[in-house]
Amino acid sequence: MKIDVDLGERAYEVITGLGARRHLAEVIARRAPRARTAAIVTSEGLVGRQWFDVETGLDQHVIVVPDGETAKSMAAVEYLCERFVALGLSRDDVVVGVGGGAVTDLAGFAAAVYLRGVGVVQVPTTLVGQVDAAIGGKTGVNLTVGKNLVGAFHQPLGVLCDTAALETLPDRELRSGYGEVAKCWLLERRDPSGVTVATREDLVALSVGLKAGIVSQDERESGRRALLNYGHTLGHAVELVALERDPDELRHGEAVAIGLGFAARLAHALGRVDEGSVEAHDAVLDAFGLARRLPAAMSSEQLIAIMQRDKKAHHDLTFVLDGPAGFEVVSGVAPDVVSRVIDQFRSES
Ligand SMILES: NC(=O)c1ccc[n+]([C@@H]2O[C@H](COP(=O)([O-])OP(=O)(O)OC[C@H]3O[C@@H](n4cnc5c(N)ncnc54)[C@H](O)[C@@H]3O)[C@@H](O)[C@H]2O)c1
Repeated sequence: MKIDVDLGERAYEVITGLGARRHLAEVIARRAPRARTAAIVTSEGLVGRQWFDVETGLDQHVIVVPDGETAKSMAAVEYLCERFVALGLSRDDVVVGVGGGAVTDLAGFAAAVYLRGVGVVQVPTTLVGQVDAAIGGKTGVNLTVGKNLVGAFHQPLGVLCDTAALETLPDRELRSGYGEVAKCWLLERRDPSGVTVATREDLVALSVGLKAGIVSQDERESGRRALLNYGHTLGHAVELVALERDPDELRHGEAVAIGLGFAARLAHALGRVDEGSVEAHDAVLDAFGLARRLPAAMSSEQLIAIMQRDKKAHHDLTFVLDGPAGFEVVSGVAPDVVSRVIDQFRSES
């Protein structure tokens, strides 16, 4: 399936489905016709997988970076750029990111800054990468003081979401992806009963379609793109508290699922939606096998303090909420209401 991200001269296609990676050489030939060399950035543990047979049609070189979040560092950007120089990578050449969101964020950022920008094609291999990280052109790395603090918008030349790669993905990583897919399912107002009959290909295509449509209208997140943060305000806060005490406690998408359940309850408490909306959210999260329990020992004061510091909240309590006019960004939500809904949510679990 081909889905367009419609951004004028920076427009590109996302190809989804089984075997999508086989379009790599054709996409590069079309989008970077003068390229001769491809630097394939991937992480430890991925080279040698049965789907790791990427063919660029060029003189290609694989560069391996550390696994997972540790790849997203300024040191890794420097390492990559130095390797690009050693390969003689020119402005006409391409970088290819093959891996999870951490790899595509890093490869995309290195491509954005090397020689002030070279083309990148993304081949995301996790569900999070396929439905979220690799699409939309946000790239970046972490600093020791926080995640994603250095980055750039750099749209790829193309994205290939091959569902064959998902076959080797551990269950926990799949579930994390389902948190983002559930968000898309809810934003699209799909019937909860449809989840169980949807194939993985359908779920990737649905989520990519939603994100591609929104990014096409609002590349830089000055408006509609913020809707993609549905479930993320509380989700991020819960994720941060969990991360500090045990890095394995919650994956990002698992935290988003909790945030989605909470957002429905907050919208209900504010009189924006009826009880049926809360039930529909719970049914969707259950169908994806996502837990929506607030983890133990997270106080509402602690979570509210973090949400007020959220870089997208501008020191206010800001949520994406459903309502009579559809999903929208709602700012200035009263802390006492948020606190009460968190406490109710906790007592339900
Ligand atoms: N740029 C964006 O818009 C955006 C959006 C969402 C998330 N992100 C970023 O994405 C990152 C999270 O991405 P993620 O959840 O993909 O995690 P990840 O990249 O850390 O990958 C998770 C694990 O899965 C392994 N893996 C990858 N593909 C595999 C496969 N096919 N089979 C088996 N194992 C495989 C990886 O080696 C890693 O150990 C975060 O850094 C987040 O900030 C970026």
